[in-house]
Amino acid sequence: MKSILISGIQPTGKLHIGNYFGALKNFVDLQNSGKYQCYFFIADLHALTENPAPKDLNQNILNLTADFLASGLDPKKSVIFQQSRISVHSELMWILNTIAKIPELELMTQFKDKAKQFRQSVNLGLFNYPVLMAADVLLYNTKFVPVGNDQDQHLEITRTLARRFNKIFGKTFVEPKAIHTLTPRVMSLINPEKKMSKSQPESCVFIDDSPEQIKAKIKKAVTDSGSEIKYNRKDKPAISNLLEIYSSLSGKTINDLEKKFKGKNYSVFKNDLIGVVADYFADFRKNKSILIKNKSKLFSILKSGSQKASQRAEKKIIEVKKKIGLA
Ligand code: ADP
Ligand code: TRP
Repeated sequence: MKSILISGIQPTGKLHIGNYFGALKNFVDLQNSGKYQCYFFIADLHALTENPAPKDLNQNILNLTADFLASGLDPKKSVIFQQSRISVHSELMWILNTIAKIPELELMTQFKDKAKQFRQSVNLGLFNYPVLMAADVLLYNTKFVPVGNDQDQHLEITRTLARRFNKIFGKTFVEPKAIHTLTPRVMSLINPEKKMSKSQPESCVFIDDSPEQIKAKIKKAVTDSGSEIKYNRKDKPAISNLLEIYSSLSGKTINDLEKKFKGKNYSVFKNDLIGVVADYFADFRKNKSILIKNKSKLFSILKSGSQKASQRAEKKIIEVKKKIGLA
């Protein structure tokens, strides 16, 4: 039996190259390795924590589904589904809420950041966001979860809840492990100390940006003092980030790139990088522009994937209910 692998992305806006190299590209590679039984989903219940306008949320769900497919996820090889279509995700979350502890959730960096941002108005969904994520993972007996390393704390909570539940009620859940890529954290183009994030669009190259947009953003990307193209995360964080991006796109090692650009300045390097980014995503842009026009096809893929996923999830919730005395 192949190991089960699951991951989700929130439909909260366009995907950037951090999402792509930290997560989506890896999804496609893992799917194509043939080694896993793969589940990939649109984490739309998680997206609700940002209180999106209904029209935007709906459009973002379609948009992310098109991103999945245009980058190579294939409903014949992976189960592609929509979280909110499977109500047992919410049901297991409630059950796990009753064994999750407030102080351990208060330690979550993502929650702390959001709490600072929204102050008094921070919603309860943001607080137990990791418990819903644990339910997403544990429902499928998942062994592996490919994510960027900003999700490590959430996976640790998932493991804690699995262990705690198993200890109280007997072995029920598998403890999952994260799978990271070589670029688990792409940094912001305008502040290389912070991760590239959708919440700061000017920090991102989006994967469906046009060549003109890519050019403008990379030209504006901050650089370090000096002019050498040399990798040093500590002293030259900006150029190191751009080198990592270049390396991920081209498959060339950082060492090879340093040699290629020896004696050249930042502007030569950036011009080359602009071409590499624009070319890399050319097929993606073409595929996506076709897919996004076919709304009914996108919805029907989500519908049939969700039917498949729910068969497994329903079995698990019956087992859980028996264990805790509800059935
Ligand atoms: P964002 O933080 O931009 O809102 P999400 O939270 O929707 O992105 O993340 C979707 C996936 O992309 C997750 O697996 C996450 O770990 C990964 N990811 C997000 N930002 C980055 C980044 N800058 N570098 C690498 N991976 C990232
Ligand atoms: N929290 C993840 C993110 O922000 C999205 C997510 C929700 C997820 N549920 C998950 C990722 C389960 C992996 C597994 O990117």
